Amino acid sequence: MGKRFGLIGHPVAHSLSPQMHNDAFKDCQIDADYVALDVEAGDLEEVTEKIRKGEIDGVNVTIPHKVAIMNFLDEIDREAERIGAVNTIVRHNGKLVGYNTDGAGYMQSIESYLPSNVKDMNILVIGAGGAARAVCASFLGAGVSSLVVANRTKEKADTLLNLISTNQDQTNAMTLSEAENGLEKFDLIVNTTSVGMSPYTEQIPISLRKLKDKAIVSDLIYNPLETAFLKEAAESGATTVNGVGMFVNQGALSFEYWTGIKPDRKRMTNIVLKTLG
Ligand code: ATR
Repeated sequence: MGKRFGLIGHPVAHSLSPQMHNDAFKDCQIDADYVALDVEAGDLEEVTEKIRKGEIDGVNVTIPHKVAIMNFLDEIDREAERIGAVNTIVRHNGKLVGYNTDGAGYMQSIESYLPSNVKDMNILVIGAGGAARAVCASFLGAGVSSLVVANRTKEKADTLLNLISTNQDQTNAMTLSEAENGLEKFDLIVNTTSVGMSPYTEQIPISLRKLKDKAIVSDLIYNPLETAFLKEAAESGATTVNGVGMFVNQGALSFEYWTGIKPDRKRMTNIVLKTLG
């Protein structure tokens, strides 16, 4: 019998992960399948037992379980510990190990757009939830020396930075309007909130009226492919990067943890783009 992988979250019905991973298994000639598993918080322990017993071989974890799942694992990888969340579970010798591929997946998706002096960039991250935490941890890990987190609830931005920043001189928390008013300072702006996600496609997290010349604007959202935020950025002449790259790369890194094989990222990207139409 083939191996079994899956995505645990709630809701998961609209996820593109099953199509992407199943195609990659086929392409790599691995006898395995990947299914979306709608799991309520109360059933997390039962699911982890199934992975421990070998009924399931590995999973991705998504909203709202990325933090709570950590209680049921045997080991947490250092990067996942730093981010404070797990999106990938691997069984090693009967033990369940939690990893987080969101931050590394994001960095892989953006690196070809960034100049070599990424450490000197002024970076603005909008949002202070789990996705923001993964992105910020990666930037700080890459040695970025100026990172601002702006959030609707400023206290959450403070909390995020207190948890992951080791040098408070390099980081700052702001409200959304403070970020909007000081926008000309930033070289890279990243939206990690769900503002603008389908079906609320007309919404933007902040206005981009004072964008710096040659700024890069990135949105983790991939549905729609071009959010209203990215449209506004493109109209101001900015380079824009949508969320497809992060989605594909986080999935590819999970795939590598499970199988030891690097899947074809171009092929994965095409599947996602085709499905999104
Ligand atoms: P994720 O794990 O995807 O990051 P999350 O942890 O629920 O999701 O975080 C959602 C983020 O989007 C938060 O920063 C949230 O702001 P608050 O901390 O103030 O709640 C932000 N967000 C969600 N809806 C928003 C809206 N309508 N306007 C501004 N920010 C919003």
